[in-house]
This record gives sequence, structure tokens and C-alpha cells, in this order.
Amino acid sequence: MASPLAGITSIKDMPIEGKRLFIRVDFNVPLEDGKITDDSRIREALPTIKHALERGARVILASHLGRPKKGPDPKLSMEPCGARLAELLGVEVHVPDDCIGDAAKKIVMDLRAGQVCLLENLRFHPEEEKDDEGFCQELAKNADMYVSDAFGAVHRAHASVHGMAKLFQDRGCGFLLEKEIAALGTIVSAPERPYVAVLGGAKVSDKIAVIEALLERVDRLIIGGAMANTFLAAKGCNMQASKIEEDKLALARTLMEKAEAKKVAILLPTDVVVAESLEAKEGKVVKAAEVPAGHMALDIGPASLEAFAKAFDGAKTILWNGPMGLFEKAPFSKGTFGVAMAMAASSAFTVIGGGDSAAAVHEAGEDVAAKIRHISTGGGASLELIEGKKLPGIEVLRKSV
Ligand code: 3PG
Repeated sequence: MASPLAGITSIKDMPIEGKRLFIRVDFNVPLEDGKITDDSRIREALPTIKHALERGARVILASHLGRPKKGPDPKLSMEPCGARLAELLGVEVHVPDDCIGDAAKKIVMDLRAGQVCLLENLRFHPEEEKDDEGFCQELAKNADMYVSDAFGAVHRAHASVHGMAKLFQDRGCGFLLEKEIAALGTIVSAPERPYVAVLGGAKVSDKIAVIEALLERVDRLIIGGAMANTFLAAKGCNMQASKIEEDKLALARTLMEKAEAKKVAILLPTDVVVAESLEAKEGKVVKAAEVPAGHMALDIGPASLEAFAKAFDGAKTILWNGPMGLFEKAPFSKGTFGVAMAMAASSAFTVIGGGDSAAAVHEAGEDVAAKIRHISTGGGASLELIEGKKLPGIEVLRKSV
């Protein structure tokens, strides 16, 4: 089977010295009152940026931030990311007013070897999301080479991730993208078995394609979080005030039948932590089939956690995507943090899809996070890869395969 990285040149093999190197990063970080609340995506891009600077490239970084729909929005400026990057790198980072046009050109042309700038939010131009040809050319014209390190955005066929890359003979991937493709690609194409997947999060509807894909590959599928409520309801449990997707009950039954036919064990919570409101200061552990009237399930219970952790015994690969409950609130965080700890204790090849589960594992403790083999920086992108899709921002980097 071809390597997941087949045909993709790594930045380390590109002659970047002295060149104007456009690096598409994903600095789509969470902001609160203009302050970055989690800078992981910036820190994860540092190895590529440092490498480029050390080899004397003139580095042009570009990213989207948020989803501006009506042109430039000062609240979504890249300025805070530029300031954070400058702190982390210990060098000046200029942020021109725009990602194209005279403002960008002046800053890019003034860059000397080993200097870096960060272009303003690409999505201030609607052409970015339209993969507009003219916009691709505008972005490309100030650069000699192209590198993508924006794993979180490679599922988007947008100009800076897709159309623009095609305009460069010298194009390749940065270290973060390389690491993501290698880890997730292995899980998709050649996972070592036994393979256990844990899925959680709010909705079954977000994960149908992932469940279908995983049923072809895994030995055990653990389902927790609010999506487990729909499966439990489909099995006849009265989940009372819990969040369930009424219109997905039949689908949940079909998925369980498919799993049985494929001899994939589906593990659902046998006990849950319930409360009468999301604001409750404490929860109560009950059997999944005995949720009291007016209560909702907000976490998996201790017996479920023990069973889930036991299902990791002997596993060679474990993939986790989606929290087991409302982990942001202390009374409902034990299931999610417990799964993170059980994964950290396993000797399997452990991979965490991005988004909430990545945030949760860091909250569980940096010592826990350090023991996970790969924590993805991409939410939607990692799910689409796991579904087995070919992603535009990865495929465009392949040359002759
Ligand atoms: C993400 O945060 O998942 C990526 O940066 C992609 O952002 P988007 O969903 O707005 O395209």
C-alpha cells in the first residue's frame, strides 16, 4: 500500500534558502475579548517556521481566523496571532493590513533572509473560500515556493489551501502536516489490530460517515457522550430529559445491526451521571436504563469508564474523537478525563482527533497529553480523513505518485 505521504515533498527537502516561502498555517485559534485562549495551533507550527527561518528563507505566513462573512472585521484580525508568534519566536512579526495588494507586497518585498511576516486574515476576501483563480494568483505572485502546514484546513478547497498550491512547482508540506498525515494515514490505511475506537460528542448526525467507516476497520467501537443517548434510546432506554436525536433512532439501530453483522463489538454506557440542569453543581450516578424523570445524562458513569478502559486491554491502536460528557463542567468531567488517562496508560498507538477531545486531553493534564502518541490539530479535517476521504489540501501537494 502506498505511503500516506507518497508524492509529497517535505520542507526539509526543498531548496528554500533565500527564497520567498509562502507557508499556509492554521492559526484559527480561539479568542475571547481579543485574547488567544489556546495557542496550541501556533506552537504546533513553530518547528516548520523555525526551520524555514534557520535556513534563511523569507517567510510569508498566511491563515484564516474565524468565519468573517462581510469582508474585513477587526475582531478577526491576525494581529493577536502575530503578537503571540513574535513572543514565541523572539523576532519581529509584521502583519500587513491585507493579505494581497500593495500593503502585502511592500512587506513581503522588504523581507530579508530569516525574517517573517504574517498576512492579514485570508477570509477577509470572500474569494478565498471560493478557491477563486484570480485570488490564487494574487496570493502566489509575491512568493517563490509554497508549503502547507495547515492541517486543520486541508479539508477545505479554498484558495490558499488548494488552488494557489497548484501554481507552484516547488510545493510541499511542513512538519506538522507531515506528522498529521503520517499518523492519521496509518490509522486509515494500515492500523495495527486489535483496533479500538472511542466516539463521543453531541450528535450522531455529525459522525454517521465516521461510524460507517470505522465499522469496516475496528474490532471494538465505544460510544459515549450525548450521542450515546440516541443509541441507548434506540435500545429502549427512557433517557428522560437527555439530549437525543429522535430522527436518528432508526439509523442508530441500523448501525448497531451492521456492527453485529461485522462482529464489531459496540460498547455503550451502562451507567451515566445525571442532573436536572446543565448548571447543576453535582451529578448523580444511575443505571443508563434508569434515568429519573426530569434528569439528563451528562457524563458516563464509573462502571462504564471501567468497562471502556478494559476494552483498551491488548489494543494495538486506539482512536478517540469526541468527549464523553459535559467535561467543561467539573461534576461531568470524570468520564472524559478518565478515558484520556486510560489512553495515556495504554501501550497502543494512540491518536486523538482534534477539536474538543484534544482540548479535553490537555485539560486532563499535560502529563496525560504527553503520553498520547498523536493529538491532531484538526477537527473537521481529522474526521474527514478517518472517513477515508481524499482531502483537497493534501492531494494538491502530491506530484508524481
Ligand atoms: C478548524 O478550526 O477546524 C479549521 O481551522 C477550519 O475552520 P473552518 O471550519 O472555519 O473552515
